[in-house]
Amino acid sequence: MDQDQKKRAAAAAALSYVQPDSIVGVGTGSTVNYFIEGLADIKNDIQAAVSSSEESTKRLKALGIEVMDLNSVGNFDIYVDGADEITEHKHMIKGGGAALTREKIVAAVADQFICIIDDTKQVPMLGKFPLPVEVIPMARSYVARELLKLGGDPVYREGVITDNGNVILDVHNLKILDPVELEKQINAIVGVVTNGLFAKRGANVVLVGTDSGVVTIK
Ligand code: 5RP
Repeated sequence: MDQDQKKRAAAAAALSYVQPDSIVGVGTGSTVNYFIEGLADIKNDIQAAVSSSEESTKRLKALGIEVMDLNSVGNFDIYVDGADEITEHKHMIKGGGAALTREKIVAAVADQFICIIDDTKQVPMLGKFPLPVEVIPMARSYVARELLKLGGDPVYREGVITDNGNVILDVHNLKILDPVELEKQINAIVGVVTNGLFAKRGANVVLVGTDSGVVTIK
């Protein structure tokens, strides 16, 4: 199986976690796009979706799936999203698609985070994938200097403005030995909106597309 087939298989497996008449939290990215396609087939069985980006909202609506504002719903069962890296502890780096802040918000409201990935995303330690940090534009240089002090090499993702009107710094060469602590430390820098470490609230279930089928990690 190639990488896309593995993504598609993991996304299809996530459909079995969707409860009848429920609200479904929907992430962002190429793996989630396959999930959205599958969700369209069962759209009459669910209440609606809550989306983590303008891109996913556009795709959901184009397929006739109702999208609700997060403020108008209470807690819901599941949030389905991909990841750029994930460890055996279900700590993740996310934000390759610049949607990390809304992803973290929607994930926080869901009871369960169902992570859908192909097996290239599994790593022994986070950090080979540069850590995305969403930053208020006027704080970009200050935050970059603070990230240097933490041992990282921040690179401005030029030409990218997030759905929230902010910019992204991709931090290279971080040694992420304690993801929970680093997530907290980076979020404490003034001007940071959020960072792409999903460690304090990691995944609950990981569905991994592999050559021998989808492996479920709980
Ligand atoms: C977007 C994300 C995505 O979940 C992550 O980048 C993985 O994307 P893909 O499924 O395309 O590999 O965090 O902000």
